[in-house]
Amino acid sequence: MNILILGSGGREHSLAWAVLQNPKCDKLIVAPGNAGIAAIADCASLDINDGPEVVGFVDENNIDFVIIGPEAPLAAGVADDLRAAGILVFGPSKAAAALEASKAFTKEICAAAKAPTAAYGHFNDAASAHAYLAQHPAPIVIKADGLAAGKGVIIAQTDAEAAAAVDTMFDGTFGQAGAEVVIEEFMEGEEASFFVLCDGATVLPIGTAQDHKRVGDGDTGPNTGGMGAYSPAPVLTDAIAERALDEIIRPTMAEMAKRGTPYQGVLYAGLMIKDGAPRLVEYNARFGDPECQVLMMRLGAQAFDLLHAAAESRLGEMRVNWAEDHAVTVVMAARGYPGAYEKGSPITGLDRLPEDSSHMVFHAGTAEQDGQIVSAGGRVLNVTVRGDSLADAQAKAYRLVEAIDWPGGFYRRDIGWRALS
Ligand code: AMP
Ligand code: GLY
Repeated sequence: MNILILGSGGREHSLAWAVLQNPKCDKLIVAPGNAGIAAIADCASLDINDGPEVVGFVDENNIDFVIIGPEAPLAAGVADDLRAAGILVFGPSKAAAALEASKAFTKEICAAAKAPTAAYGHFNDAASAHAYLAQHPAPIVIKADGLAAGKGVIIAQTDAEAAAAVDTMFDGTFGQAGAEVVIEEFMEGEEASFFVLCDGATVLPIGTAQDHKRVGDGDTGPNTGGMGAYSPAPVLTDAIAERALDEIIRPTMAEMAKRGTPYQGVLYAGLMIKDGAPRLVEYNARFGDPECQVLMMRLGAQAFDLLHAAAESRLGEMRVNWAEDHAVTVVMAARGYPGAYEKGSPITGLDRLPEDSSHMVFHAGTAEQDGQIVSAGGRVLNVTVRGDSLADAQAKAYRLVEAIDWPGGFYRRDIGWRALS
């Protein structure tokens, strides 16, 4: 098969790496890709949020199957355009991707599906939001309704912070994403991510992970897109995973099907776990980045068969073959991230590292300049390793990290600490 992956981050590098291990893949193109992806697949420059342009590219290049990585093309309806053109695609329709693109929509679906989640209110103007705050003291969570690149959530510890957050949302800081606001009960507990594939009817769990969102060791400093992850997440025990499927995920998928907008693709459920009970924090309509990297490291070549079966509505016949393994990914980021950072700083030592089914340096934001790999983003490399235990995988991952010579970068030294402590 000829396969096209849309996206350019570490997530897409790991998807490409897994797909290429499967003998069913004859040719792989990634658009737009990055310097690491270019070393293993063809890269094409393409506006991946433009449905007709993607459809045209697929026709010209005899692509049989398209895998959509990031949320932006999903929210733009690129999966719909591909399906309308009769092209096989992995990724939800625009209507189904609203589970990520609109927090108010997700809350409404949860209510209809009786899925446990935080109590909430939904507002279109500052006055009614302030009136709600008067009844609901801090700590409380203020969220822009739409996609805000992970920045549209403010956890207010005091009533004054909550009021200021509401004003920030409605003054246009988050653009269209903040024109509607959701205010939510603050949930305590431990967070974990649960990944399931859906084909509109069948739900198939493909792994758990935990991310590290803060920039600094010990979960300190500002939020980022994610500084590292590991899989599995021990806090998400089999019993809790079963409850999450029964109480949250399957009822959500059934509600989407009932409304005539069945969900097909990967559903990433962010869960808050307390006293053995899961509650939904959020859905994403795509793989997490960097959570995808640890899932792909563990699934290997079968990942392609699973995604393909989801796209063809054959998940009912699939099984996931688990090894008793653990994977860790450490993100190396440009100094200054998540604030201002420089691009173009040289990275050396990569060619001396082992790259095999248990060790990969996935590229997130890199470019090639005169034969040299340089940084080209905030999150730059994802050093990903598999081991017999989490401690083993962590130790091996940091050995690789230390072998990389990149004075312009930094990383957290404690990825996995929650599960190891
Ligand atoms: P979201 O974009 O909805 O995932 O929110 C980003 C992060 O904010 C989550 O990963 C949680 O760590 C935190 N968060 C969001 N909603 C809540 C909530 N209701 N209670 C506690 N923490 C939350
Ligand atoms: N790592 C968090 C996310 O992909 O949303």
